[in-house]
Amino acid sequence: MTRVTLIPGDGIGPEVAFAAKEVVDATGVKIEWDIVNAGADTYKKTGSFIPKTLLESISKNRVVLKGPITTPIGKGFKSINVTLRQKFDTYANIRPLKSMPGTKGRFDNVDLVVFRENTEGLYAGIEHKINEDVTEAIKVITKKGSIRIVEEAFKYAKEQNRKKVTAVHKANIMKITDGLFLDCAKSVAKKYPDIEYEEKIVDNMCMQLVMYPEKYDILVMPNLYGDILSDLASGLVGGLGLVPGANIGSDIGIFEAVHGSAPDIAGKSLANPIACIMSSAMMLDYIDEKQAANRIRKAVWTVLEEGKWKTKDLGGNATTEEITNAICKKP
Ligand code: NAI
Ligand code: MG
Repeated sequence: MTRVTLIPGDGIGPEVAFAAKEVVDATGVKIEWDIVNAGADTYKKTGSFIPKTLLESISKNRVVLKGPITTPIGKGFKSINVTLRQKFDTYANIRPLKSMPGTKGRFDNVDLVVFRENTEGLYAGIEHKINEDVTEAIKVITKKGSIRIVEEAFKYAKEQNRKKVTAVHKANIMKITDGLFLDCAKSVAKKYPDIEYEEKIVDNMCMQLVMYPEKYDILVMPNLYGDILSDLASGLVGGLGLVPGANIGSDIGIFEAVHGSAPDIAGKSLANPIACIMSSAMMLDYIDEKQAANRIRKAVWTVLEEGKWKTKDLGGNATTEEITNAICKKP
């Protein structure tokens, strides 16, 4: 029996996180769920954004399924997501983006995996005011941080038989920081002569992805570019409701969708649970329940292909519960 920490989260978080739990339970894999919340709602109830019980539960279980958490814009507390990623050193944010049937994706041949550095870059949280009119944020790029994310990308490429790794950067402008990232990427690439390696400047990369996503395979990049490009690429495959993710550290995995708490549709049963359900499949891979993971992916694929139960973002009018039930019922 594996113990997994389940963080329901804010907004649509509880709707999609419990949907994913239901789908995992339907596979018959024995999981003991430790349900502990964090976030804006938790603060209102307990006076703490990340309760101590949650940190203890994550430290003990080392496997987490997480709903999205709201972060106030421009003021207020530091992002709980960033805090958790830094605290548990989940340095690799891995986001597979694949075309699926019956979605509103503009392409049917996208098969990308974004590897986003997850602990430093412009998300290091070093920001200050020089005076009322001047502010600064410091971008931190380290050799250790860069090497380990690029290693992760190449290791994955090798294991999954992928052909190419593209390092995304802006080293023409940020010569020192992104320059270091690129140097590290080059040095790791040399150890994998069978995998093609190339570099692309991030602005061009955005255009390339929108025009020719099929030309790309594995993408690896510093934190901010990874955040932006994964939402961009989500748009190519039919939206944020479909794209899963994993935050991986040396002995910890926190699994969550790419999307946020979507306050605009929260509590209305409009949320597409597939992104969170596919994240739970990544979690099952991680705990070596590969058969159950594949079963979930196949069930999602079949439900999308049949097209009977589609949430609003997919062009239908099924509720979160209806599409979840349909996925649970597939063999
Ligand atoms: P968002 O990802 O929550 O929503 C963007 C758009 O996509 C909205 O129109 C939303 O309705 C739609 N959408 C997202 N997920 C969907 C789903 N499963 N099904 C159907 N439609 C979906 O981004 P937004 O609005 O910028 O952020 C909202 C809050 O979420 C903010 O407080 C932000 O800080 C937080 N956030 C949290 C994340 C996390 O916990 N990992 C990640 C990203 C944002
Ligand atoms: Mg994001």
